[in-house]
Amino acid sequence: MAAARGAPVDRLLRPVHRWIWKDHDRRVRKLLRFADVESDGGRDILRAAEVTRDPLLRRLYLAHAIDELHHGDLFRERGAALVRTRAGGSNGAAHGWLPSAGHGLDDLRIENEADDSLLAFLHLSEKAAAGRFAIYRDLVKDDPATCAIFEEILRDEVFHMNYTHTQLARIAPGSYRRRLWRARASRLWKRYLRVAAALAGVVGTGILTVQYFVLLPPFAWLAKRAERRERQGWSPIPPDREESLSSQY
Ligand SMILES: [Fe+2]
Ligand SMILES: [Fe+2]
Repeated sequence: MAAARGAPVDRLLRPVHRWIWKDHDRRVRKLLRFADVESDGGRDILRAAEVTRDPLLRRLYLAHAIDELHHGDLFRERGAALVRTRAGGSNGAAHGWLPSAGHGLDDLRIENEADDSLLAFLHLSEKAAAGRFAIYRDLVKDDPATCAIFEEILRDEVFHMNYTHTQLARIAPGSYRRRLWRARASRLWKRYLRVAAALAGVVGTGILTVQYFVLLPPFAWLAKRAERRERQGWSPIPPDREESLSSQY
């Protein structure tokens, strides 16, 4: 299995990644987000180690979980160190439409996954993470400490990518290619949903803005015209609406 190389879509998005990483605040936010994703992934893989019936996989999952939890700590410490170098300040968007660089295990229910489908999913996730981390490492060359963290994590991700493939081929020798294609289709579908949701948000905002500027002005004009027709000061209440002042309503 080859070393990490960014997916075509990530190589296409390289200018976007560069834009994100060149800003101090966005860099901090990204690192802290990665810290959460890696730690969550570590906990999920720990759960996978508990439920698998395969002793070799249990050992590998345990080592994998320890790596991911360690990655979470590395990102968190680096993010905190960068925060300390410059207090406050926050701008930029959340970039929720971009795929996370982590393992995407929040898309899975570990208990419901058989070892082969979990390994296929993990293999693709680790491959994607390794590809993206390789791109990020190149984009933070101006920050040697962050670059060294990506370099260290990248080595682990490549190991995760390789062991998951080897183990998948071991436990499902006749169907591992089909498993991988199925996992690939599932990831593609989830990516489509993520982009579609972001697009729906943009379209919704556009429609509401158009409504605000096109539909609202006639109603505002009608309300102002009605206001001009109102008599100034107190108006007498018609006798049929005259009710006791002692009533609560
Ligand atoms: Fe990781
Ligand atoms: Fe990993």
